Amino acid sequence: MKQTYLAQRVIDLKPSGIRKFFDIVATMKDVISLGIGEPDFTTPDHILQAGIRSLQGGQTHYTSNAGRRQLRQALAEHLQKRYGVVYDPATEIVVSVGVSEALYMTMTALLNPGEEVIIPTPCFVAYQAEVILAGGTPVEVPTLARDGFQLDPQAFEAAITPRTKAVLIGYPNNPTGAVASRQSLLEVARIAEKHDLIVVSDELYDQLVYGVEHVCFPALPGMWQRTILLGGFSKNYAMTGWRIGFAAAPADLIKGLARVHQYTIMSAPTIAQDAALEALLNGAQAVEEMRQEYNRRRLLIVNGLNQLGLPTIEPHGAFYAFPEITVTGLDEETFAQKLLEEERVAVVPGSAFGLGGEGYVRCSYATAYEKIEQALERFARFMRRYG
Ligand SMILES: Cc1ncc(COP(=O)(O)O)c(C=O)c1O
Repeated sequence: MKQTYLAQRVIDLKPSGIRKFFDIVATMKDVISLGIGEPDFTTPDHILQAGIRSLQGGQTHYTSNAGRRQLRQALAEHLQKRYGVVYDPATEIVVSVGVSEALYMTMTALLNPGEEVIIPTPCFVAYQAEVILAGGTPVEVPTLARDGFQLDPQAFEAAITPRTKAVLIGYPNNPTGAVASRQSLLEVARIAEKHDLIVVSDELYDQLVYGVEHVCFPALPGMWQRTILLGGFSKNYAMTGWRIGFAAAPADLIKGLARVHQYTIMSAPTIAQDAALEALLNGAQAVEEMRQEYNRRRLLIVNGLNQLGLPTIEPHGAFYAFPEITVTGLDEETFAQKLLEEERVAVVPGSAFGLGGEGYVRCSYATAYEKIEQALERFARFMRRYG
């Protein structure tokens, strides 16, 4: 027998720094978790009911590969109304199993062996892995707190080589909560155009912004042609478990993505598609109510962390705060471990999200207001020892 039958690129993948932590949390009692990257809300009831109706109505079959026509139509209308971007639902949208699968089909469809994808970090933990699994090479470009975690155009351009195929951006950002400014995205656009790069824009948290606008990347001048827009329902509509999202792009690119999707997934879950249609048609008020509650919690946690001496830039999107913890003299792994063991509060070490995350931890505020209050009291005790 061989020692292992696994492919080298799989052996080389780092286990997610988030999962590792949550295996420990699962064995402990009385933990307040600021670690989970998903809404604490259950999916709004009218969306649940649409899923139930779908099941009870016998919608237990495959849909077309690209997803239900009505859902693609509704997605096209939603994107046009919200951002002024126009996609043909017949040829320019594929419904996916969350942004996770949309990332998989995008990278598999785009990358030849050894081609590089530039990824501003810290970022969602799957980005680098998806590039590697597709045979490509991720090139991380750290973003900095002093720039509000916006991409530095010079650092971006310096990372481009003849092998660079694409840049993968994710705003509003997990884990920093940064929302890219129009100015910063115009710089990305300028450089992408100059070097003929594809831009993959993960806009999963697009509706969760607080007091700033979310700029949809393909809506920028000249960018529609070179952008693959990824989006979904997991965060905006509290639908993580339904596993539903989409990719939208010019028809020639979508043709490639859809081919990967067709042979790996066939079609996204049918009941989830029916629930997603209801979310798009009638979900705006529920999203607004959740957004307002996140905003209340956001102010609580950001002010609380700053008052405790943990510098935290104001996050304008998603539901994460990203405090710097270096004043404690601990590295982010030790900080997270001690905070969990000594105070029973779970956070995620920033280094789990790539370069630039060292010295930070991610605190999710998709957790009840009262729990965040208690967590801050525990942080305060911890800081009396390490501050
Ligand atoms: C930025 C970002 N993209 C994609 C995903 C995956 O989402 P989905 O549930 O749509 O697969 C996540 C989940 O945490 C995320 O934070």
